[in-house]
Amino acid sequence: MTTKPVRKAVFPVAGFGTRFLPATKAVPKELLPVVDQPLIQYAVDEALAAGIDQLIFVTGRGKGTIEDYFDRQFEIETDLEAKGKTEILNALGKTRLKPGQAAFVRQQEMAGLGHAVWCARHLIGDEPFAVLLPDELLWNPADPCLAQMNRTYEAKGGNVISVLEVPEEHVHRYGVIDPGAAEGAVTEVKGMVEKPKREVAPSRLAVVGRYILQPEVLKVLDAGKKGAGGEIQLTDAMAELIGVQPFHAQTFDGARHDCGEKAGFIIANLALALERPDIADTIRAYARTI
Ligand code: UTP
Repeated sequence: MTTKPVRKAVFPVAGFGTRFLPATKAVPKELLPVVDQPLIQYAVDEALAAGIDQLIFVTGRGKGTIEDYFDRQFEIETDLEAKGKTEILNALGKTRLKPGQAAFVRQQEMAGLGHAVWCARHLIGDEPFAVLLPDELLWNPADPCLAQMNRTYEAKGGNVISVLEVPEEHVHRYGVIDPGAAEGAVTEVKGMVEKPKREVAPSRLAVVGRYILQPEVLKVLDAGKKGAGGEIQLTDAMAELIGVQPFHAQTFDGARHDCGEKAGFIIANLALALERPDIADTIRAYARTI
């Protein structure tokens, strides 16, 4: 099957991060560090590893530092260079995107994830695109989530979303799919519902923050229909494409850390710290004492 390659990725980063206040009063949630790297960098690394070459950030008021983060920082760089601290200087290399590779648009009001994606419609244009929610840290550096999804997209075309099985008592927090035929990690999507009550949830397969979508979803979002919580939901717009275009869910093979909430964020720090040779022993030794 020939499919148009996915070249663009949208990062919706306009949310208030209320669950992390006061930490997120002046610092965007997406710049909170897991070990020594902000959340947004993990999502950007994942996108670039999957062959994405254009990055679109949907920001909001007070999020200007995300744009600064991806710029040069002459004072620090000059100082590091003068002091010969090349290792740290090299670590900054990945924060400098190619000229023109990143674009920033603002979502003026928090009207929902669907609305945030719709704010990027002119930059997306008429081609397939990825959406990555940076507060979901999907960790498999050897085979990142979006790369796993891209392989399914190349085989099946249409739309591909990532899912994971969650406990029944948590389904009400997520978009949940109604599963059709499954082939290994790939499941056909027959329906989708945002934040269902446990009794009516069609499965325990929850959508976890990664999407490959066709541009037609933007036409559906044009209508500005409000859904759960009075927000314009991406899930509702995607649901309208089921049956019209191929639609598959890819069960993510890797570790998922929900860094949008405190416990998940702390666990992510612990888990990734234990993979760092310079600090793993210290962290492990301390953890044993408690
Ligand atoms: P969340 O609801 O998890 O993020 O939205 P939040 O609003 O930042 O956090 P809390 O709930 O207040 O603690 C999921 C993702 O969608 C983006 C958020 O930035 C986050 O990455 N989002 C959500 C938007 O960009 N715009 C919206 O209107 C809603």
